[in-house]
Amino acid sequence: MVQILDLGHVGDDYYIVMELIKGPSVGAVLGHVDGGLPWEVAGEIVAQVCDGLHAAHELRDADGTRLGLVHRDVSPSNIMVTDNGGVKLVDFGIAKARDSVIETDAGRVKGKTCYLSPEACRGAAVDRRADLFALGATFFELLRGQRLFKRESHVDTFRAICDEPIPDPRSVRPDLPAPVARVLLHALERDPSRRFATAEEMGGALRAASAGLLSPLVLGEFLRKRCANLFERRAAQVRVAETRAADDTPTVLETNPLQVGPPVGRAGGGFSWSSPWSPRRSRGARFCDAAPGRRDP
Ligand SMILES: Nc1ncnc2c1ncn2[C@@H]1O[C@H](COP(=O)(O)OP(=O)(O)O)[C@@H](O)[C@H]1O
Ligand SMILES: [Mg+2]
Repeated sequence: MVQILDLGHVGDDYYIVMELIKGPSVGAVLGHVDGGLPWEVAGEIVAQVCDGLHAAHELRDADGTRLGLVHRDVSPSNIMVTDNGGVKLVDFGIAKARDSVIETDAGRVKGKTCYLSPEACRGAAVDRRADLFALGATFFELLRGQRLFKRESHVDTFRAICDEPIPDPRSVRPDLPAPVARVLLHALERDPSRRFATAEEMGGALRAASAGLLSPLVLGEFLRKRCANLFERRAAQVRVAETRAADDTPTVLETNPLQVGPPVGRAGGGFSWSSPWSPRRSRGARFCDAAPGRRDP
C-alpha cells in the first residue's frame, strides 16, 4: 500500500503528500507487453496486492475499532510496480470507510465499471469482499491482456459481471496451474459469501497454489527485461518533476493522451496530488501513464 506522508490544505486546495513510486502502473505494463503477463508474474502482483489490501481492510481507528475500509477501485491502473518487484496499491480516492463522515454520493455506483462486483452492480452494500472480486477480474486481465468484463455499454458490462459465464482461465492460459485457476475463480464467485472472506486468505491460497513459483525476484527480473523503457520514461518524468519542484516552476509531467485538455500543474516545493476532497481536482503535479487505447467505460 502506498505510504501517505502528510495531509493538508493551501487555501481551498487540499493535498495528500505520498511516497513517490518510481515505476509504472500495471495498466501501463499491460499496454507495453503483447497479450498477458506470465502467470508467475501476474500471480506475484496479485499476491502482493492481497497483502496491501488486507492491511487497508484491517485499519482501525484510535479506539481499535475496524474502519471497514473498502478500496472500491482495485484495477490495473491503480496498482504500481517497482523494478525490484515491489507492488503498491494506490488511489484510495473513492475508498469508503463504514460509517464514514465523508459521504460519497449516496446510491451511486462507484468504481470503474469493469471491476465492479455483482453486489455493487445491484446497488447493494459492499464490503471488503468487493475488492477481492475486483482483484479477481484484475488477475484475469493480467493473464489475458484484455478486460474480463469489458462490453460495449455499461448495461452489457453489468450483465456480464452478474450473469454471463466466466471463461475457464486455463482456456486462455493453458500453462496456468489448476490450483491457481481455482483461486482466481474463487475470487470471482458472484455470491460474496462464497468468495474468500479476506485478502489475507486469498493471498495465502494463491501462494500455496503456486508451488513456490511466485516471488518479487521473478517479477523484478521480468519488469527490468521487458519494460526497461517504461522505467526509463518514468525516471525521466521524475527528474523533470524534481527539478521543477525545486525551482517552484509549474509542472505538467505528462499529458494523458486520453485526457481532454492539459491538467494545470503546480508543484510548490514538493508533490501534491489532487485529493478526493479537492474541489479542483486538476491542480497539482500529476503522473498520467494510461496506455493509449486502454480506457475505462
Ligand atoms: N505515489 C505515487 N507515486 C508515483 N506515481 C503515482 C503515485 N500515485 C499515483 N501515481 C500515478 O498517477 C496515476 C493516477 O493516480 P491515481 O491516484 O490513480 O488517481 P486517479 O484518481 O486519477 O486515477 C496512477 O496511475 C499512477 O501512474
Ligand atoms: Mg487511479
